[in-house]
Amino acid sequence: MEFKEKLAAFRSRIDSAIDQLTPASNTRPSRVHEAMRYSLSAGGKRIRPSLVLASSELFESQVDPLPAAVAVECLHTYTLIHDDLPAIDDSNLRRGLDTCHIRFDEATAILAGDALLTYAFELLAKHYSSEPSLAVELIATLSETAGSQKLIGGQMEDVIGENYSVGETELEYIHLNKTSALIEASLIMGAAIGGANDEERHSISEYGRCIGLGFQIMDDILDATSDSKTMGKTVGADAAANKTTYVSVHGLQESRSRLASLTNRAREICDQLHAPLLKQLATYLNERTN
Ligand code: IPE
Ligand code: IPE
Ligand code: MG
Ligand code: MG
Ligand code: MG
Repeated sequence: MEFKEKLAAFRSRIDSAIDQLTPASNTRPSRVHEAMRYSLSAGGKRIRPSLVLASSELFESQVDPLPAAVAVECLHTYTLIHDDLPAIDDSNLRRGLDTCHIRFDEATAILAGDALLTYAFELLAKHYSSEPSLAVELIATLSETAGSQKLIGGQMEDVIGENYSVGETELEYIHLNKTSALIEASLIMGAAIGGANDEERHSISEYGRCIGLGFQIMDDILDATSDSKTMGKTVGADAAANKTTYVSVHGLQESRSRLASLTNRAREICDQLHAPLLKQLATYLNERTN
């Protein structure tokens, strides 16, 4: 199968699993379930759940990676809903639609985010209960990643960085934690489902940090150079909010060359791992326009 077809096939499996595994909109209280589904189905790229599938497919395993992929997308969608709130990035557009707090209201957006975060762990606990040690490992990986020393830590320093000038090392901390950690965790969860050994996990983690850091560098580049229509979200907001980004610290040219070297390193790791799909994914992310 061609790379683009393979990605489209992942997306369609992920979209139907999201539809099947999340509560129906008319479940009481319908307002929160409508808001959860509104943001989930608004049309994200599904990169993180695709990484769960791609990583698990490197190995032979009978365990279904789809519930874990949905859990990761629920958690990611919660981070976007809360990131867009007036108190954080104050963004009006997300995934081509009004943000959750604009379409509903702030209280609903906060609660829908809380519910998606919690639901991620319910999915893992319930769908992997026949493999208790795997279930615990998936829950431990995702909760640590989403916690105050990783994703929330990165978001906290990102917000603090609006008021202070942030240096190179702090910026690396922000990017590695607010964005790269969940990308790496998605791959590691797939590897755990597949039954990867320690050496394979180590390589997959390094690959994840390369494409994860690269992903946020590209996000910063696109925020500075693209437009809201192409991106489907508010852009130009980083400079307006005085955010420290890869582009504001290093400039566009250096940002592009760091991204290229991270992509090259990621591709090298894929050769060792015999992972042609992950290799193509690294190139695709390096060339993405939204
Ligand atoms: C946006 O992530 C948030 C960042 C970490 C930059 P994506 O660019 O993957 O957003 P969706 O899921 O496609 O909407
Ligand atoms: C968001 O980073 C990272 C998380 C949501 C954890 P950004 O604030 O740069 O993401 P966008 O640009 O709004 O998607
Ligand atoms: Mg933000
Ligand atoms: Mg934002
Ligand atoms: Mg951004």
